[in-house]
Amino acid sequence: ANPSLLILPGDGIGPEVMAEVRRAIDWFGAKRGLVFDVSEDLVGGCAYDAHGTPLTDETMAKAQEVDAVLLGAVGGPKYDKLDFSVKPERGLLRLRKEMDLFSNLRPAQCFDALADFSSLKREVVAGLDIMIIRELTSGVYFGEPRGIHKEGNERVGINTQRYTESEIARVARSAFELARKRSNKVCSMEKANVMESGILWRDVVQEVHDAEYPDVELSHMYADAGAMQLTRWPKQFDVIVTDNLFGDLLSDLAAMLTGSLGMLPSASLGLPMANGRPKALYEPVHGSAPDIAGQGKANPIACILSFAMALRYSFDEGANADLLEGAVQTVLADGVRTADLMGPDGGTPVSTTEMGDAILA
Ligand code: NAI
Ligand code: MG
Repeated sequence: ANPSLLILPGDGIGPEVMAEVRRAIDWFGAKRGLVFDVSEDLVGGCAYDAHGTPLTDETMAKAQEVDAVLLGAVGGPKYDKLDFSVKPERGLLRLRKEMDLFSNLRPAQCFDALADFSSLKREVVAGLDIMIIRELTSGVYFGEPRGIHKEGNERVGINTQRYTESEIARVARSAFELARKRSNKVCSMEKANVMESGILWRDVVQEVHDAEYPDVELSHMYADAGAMQLTRWPKQFDVIVTDNLFGDLLSDLAAMLTGSLGMLPSASLGLPMANGRPKALYEPVHGSAPDIAGQGKANPIACILSFAMALRYSFDEGANADLLEGAVQTVLADGVRTADLMGPDGGTPVSTTEMGDAILA
């Protein structure tokens, strides 16, 4: 059987950028004999409009069965006033939760042609290629007890950072596995100096390393120092593994080392399925961009690079992933730019479809 993909374009520019991914998928089928069984469905605001829920049980069940899910983006002003239980982002949260996607891969890769878009100096970021792995399903965003309580005559806001050994071990494994496919180097970040969960994090990552991955070079860093080092000399890192909260901050920071939001892909992985492939959802980091939706201005590269990650991490198609990423690099080096990638010196931007054309060519 062909490998299967569920495509959920979502709202706003989601369908526009996903249309270019569909063309890339067709290209791989026609030119490389890499054929996928593709199905498409609704998520987010468009699913709410059609079914009164941002993700139906049928779509959820389909997501559990396929080899990988590709998602565009969800949300938009039209849905801002909806009750939280049916908000578009609840569709995405349900997918992550029920598929148990605990390992969030956020690459920060700086294409040479775009190095001047970074907030840092060209020599600091040119050629940068690091991967931040953020634990996505536990930690302080989920820990109990939580809430706002009255204590005496004032209110107290409470969240709890909580990690079990097995939660730390599985995301550590995912980092070590990935490092073996890259430059074999992992830096783990926590705050073991001031947090109990940080002490456990450091111990468990070290134990998993010593028992299962002694060949991988492992270092530990306090997350605040890590933030500093990421802006000082990011190329010292390869794979960084960290918890949900620190990963949220550090991955946004690292992302902006590289320039535009329209360039950033991501993967969220879970445990292996019966066929050995991990549960997986791939999506661009950006949102539905209502300000440019429907105008053919969206940059499809983040979504296309998310598909390249799917080729690499779900389907073991490293050479084809290289081919697609290389095409993106070539097109950028040739000066093809969507509006979000135009410098102050101007020039004529290409449309979403024209960018897709250039990459396919
Ligand atoms: P956004 O990422 O949609 O847009 C931020 C800015 O970046 C906008 O000016 C937009 O035009 C630009 N931009 C984003 N992606 C682009 C692309 N591919 N090409 C060219 N320009 C691009 O974030 P914003 O404005 O905060 O949120 C808009 C909506 O998207 C909201 O409803 C929000 O809830 C939702 N959202 C959804 C996410 C998801 O589906 N994972 C993630 C973030 C936001
Ligand atoms: Mg964030």
